[in-house]
Amino acid sequence: MSNIVIVGTQWGDEGKGKIVDLLAEFADIVVRFQGGNNAGHTMVVDGEQFISHLVPSGILQGKMCLLGNGMVVDPEVLLKELDNLNNRGIDVGPDRLKISEKAHIIMPYHKHIDMARENMKGDQKIGTTGRGIGPCYEDKATRRGVRFVDLLDPKEFDEKIKTILEEKNFYLEHYFSAEKLDPAGIIDQYKGYADRLSPHIINISIVMNKAIKENKQILFEGAQGTHLDIDHGTYPFVTSSNTVSGNACCGAGIGPKEITGVVGIVKAYTTRVGSGPFPTELFDEIGDKIQKKGAEFGATTGRKRRCGWLDTVLLRNAARLNGLTGLVITKLDVLDGLEDLKICTGYEYNGKIIRDFPASLKILGSCKPIYEVLPGWPEDISKIRNMEDLPENARHYLNRIEELTETPIDIISVGPGREETILINNPFNLK
Ligand code: IMP
Repeated sequence: MSNIVIVGTQWGDEGKGKIVDLLAEFADIVVRFQGGNNAGHTMVVDGEQFISHLVPSGILQGKMCLLGNGMVVDPEVLLKELDNLNNRGIDVGPDRLKISEKAHIIMPYHKHIDMARENMKGDQKIGTTGRGIGPCYEDKATRRGVRFVDLLDPKEFDEKIKTILEEKNFYLEHYFSAEKLDPAGIIDQYKGYADRLSPHIINISIVMNKAIKENKQILFEGAQGTHLDIDHGTYPFVTSSNTVSGNACCGAGIGPKEITGVVGIVKAYTTRVGSGPFPTELFDEIGDKIQKKGAEFGATTGRKRRCGWLDTVLLRNAARLNGLTGLVITKLDVLDGLEDLKICTGYEYNGKIIRDFPASLKILGSCKPIYEVLPGWPEDISKIRNMEDLPENARHYLNRIEELTETPIDIISVGPGREETILINNPFNLK
């Protein structure tokens, strides 16, 4: 029996969706444990593209999918996704898709506040996705949040919304000079959501516990990436949840001894959307080439992603913080045809060499990457399905990643399709 956590090792957008979709075949249940519709997973099946923001990618494999208590969920977006999947003939009924009763609900004021705050920040913008994620987690921490369990009790829900709105409306009106929100309208709107979502709301910890006792396998699907983690990322240019593997336990409701493996997804180069330091960022034509070839646009906001060389200071940090047992290298094919490849092995700061990721953004912002230059490969590798068939220089690049991160590579992705994959070791075989 294996229960595997999948996390991003960089700043998100590592291509987790495809890998979750691939590994979901070996799982009985797929669970998301943090974040909300700030994430966007692109999956390609039989040439057809699916983008999901909330529903775990395992839904396409017909697996049971759970939205964990660590998530913040916008019911409007969830229902749109469910309708869309349903229209494509995918079963998203209550036996297939379950929502933790303890997950927090994104309310209209969260979205208003997220956007209004960001607009006030000028050049200090975080670059949030504007989906209300931060304000919703903020209300969770200050104990003013609305949870899915509240939808099941209409009377209490009404009272709660009226009380909360007194404060939110004061803030919206007097701080942002924005329009007040009407409690009756919101109550009405969310009653409609409650009617449709109630059959899906359940204690998912019990569901998972039962599954584990029956020797079923669970895949925990992380969103965003390690360096967007609220504690361990490039704070304040981070998201508002813990994205590291440890949060799979907290955000889903299981104990750490149930986790048997942690897979870190590594894009073969580095990208970042939104603001914040990025030591290996490229500002030249190679960066443009990678951005275009890798179609590096955010799946959620459509923003152009910033691109740069692979940074193993970042990856070593991720390996330690997540306890990675294996790596998945994605988008290796995007590097086809580049003459030389650079791997960052450390940073130079004030004449000193730094090998560990600094917490201070001031220091990180002044760090100069130290590069090792490796020869590229001219071949198109997208049709290759075995490690041995890869060009020697590609294998050398991969070996250096393993050496520098002290973590073995389990899977290599050479294209967006399910079949465009080189499988070295199936993480579900781990004990
Ligand atoms: P928020 O999570 O919308 O508040 O955004 C905070 C920061 O995290 C911004 O820089 C976003 O661009 C970034 N971010 C949030 N979700 C993702 C994601 O799924 N992939 C990459 N970046 C993300």
